[in-house]
Amino acid sequence: MAIKYGRPIESRTRFAPVETPAKAAPSLGLATRLRRNRRADWARRMVRESVLSTDDLIWPLFVTEGRGGPIASMPGVERLALDDVVRAAEQAAKLTIPCIALFPYTDPGLRDEDGSEALNPKNLVCRALRALKKEVPEVGVLCDVALDPYTSHGHDGLIRDGVILNDETVAVLVRQALVQAEAGCDIIAPSDMMDGRVGAIRQGLDEAGFLDVSIMSYAAKYASAFYGPFRDAVGSSATLIGDKRTYQMDPGNTDEALREVELDIAEGADMVMVKPGLPYLDILARIKAEFGMPTFAYQVSGEYAMLMAAAGNGWLDGDKAMMESLVAFKRAGADGVLTYFAPRVAEKLRKS
Ligand code: PBG
Repeated sequence: MAIKYGRPIESRTRFAPVETPAKAAPSLGLATRLRRNRRADWARRMVRESVLSTDDLIWPLFVTEGRGGPIASMPGVERLALDDVVRAAEQAAKLTIPCIALFPYTDPGLRDEDGSEALNPKNLVCRALRALKKEVPEVGVLCDVALDPYTSHGHDGLIRDGVILNDETVAVLVRQALVQAEAGCDIIAPSDMMDGRVGAIRQGLDEAGFLDVSIMSYAAKYASAFYGPFRDAVGSSATLIGDKRTYQMDPGNTDEALREVELDIAEGADMVMVKPGLPYLDILARIKAEFGMPTFAYQVSGEYAMLMAAAGNGWLDGDKAMMESLVAFKRAGADGVLTYFAPRVAEKLRKS
């Protein structure tokens, strides 16, 4: 019998059979019973391989000018006014969530063809960064580098005759990264999927003296339908013309994800990310196994929306499904997860 884990009974030394009381059920004679390790909570905790902690969480926040408000497709998540972003960071600190991620809802009047508001040192993200670094410096702040919250067409890059330009976009992204670093950003996260942007941003940061600003690249980012609610939140669903398939990855590919990650590491990424999350755990596991880099997963807005919708209808136990989905990331090899559930998970972990 070919058993890799645990020996079959035949291969074991035979002992004299133990007298079994007449009324005991007949034994199957199994040497290995995996249920022994599952029989009580203490035993399950003792043998558990992957454990989620608050240190694994990155909490994405949406910031808006003036007053905040709910996002219909993301129940429980709100666009936050500047002051409330600071309050949220204080909450993160209290809950020992190490890092937050900032995403702006840009006033439609400030969006243009080139996304020029991205380079305004007084834009919403930069003002939030300054406030955060002054009030709650102990919490790390990650910022997307991409033009989509700022462009009138909703794309991550510059566009000419319907084509997203690569090298011209990269030049702008370097400037966007510098504006954010100047405002106090700890982790620059290029989410645009242009070729060569990690290297260019690293060089730009270094030349400007930002040697300690990290880069977490959205290395394997797929052209996914699961970003829908996020685009509602930042106001780009309404404006997006076409789709992002000429720069984000094809959902059918996995070898290509390794090439993306390999390039980003070579260009100087400190951490890499896979996105979306649960539907791409195979990619995450492969990347972690291949490169052993600090590797993060983004449980994106559509994944959050699905769980919340099912839980809201009473079809799932929301808390349990949330915890199970997050431990799945750890099991697949993630060092951490960007998740809209972050404060809820942290509260739960604190109580358990
Ligand atoms: C912007 C960006 C997106 C997300 C993070 N950064 C959307 C997109 O690429 O269209 C998605 C996050 C989510 O769905 O939660 N480039």
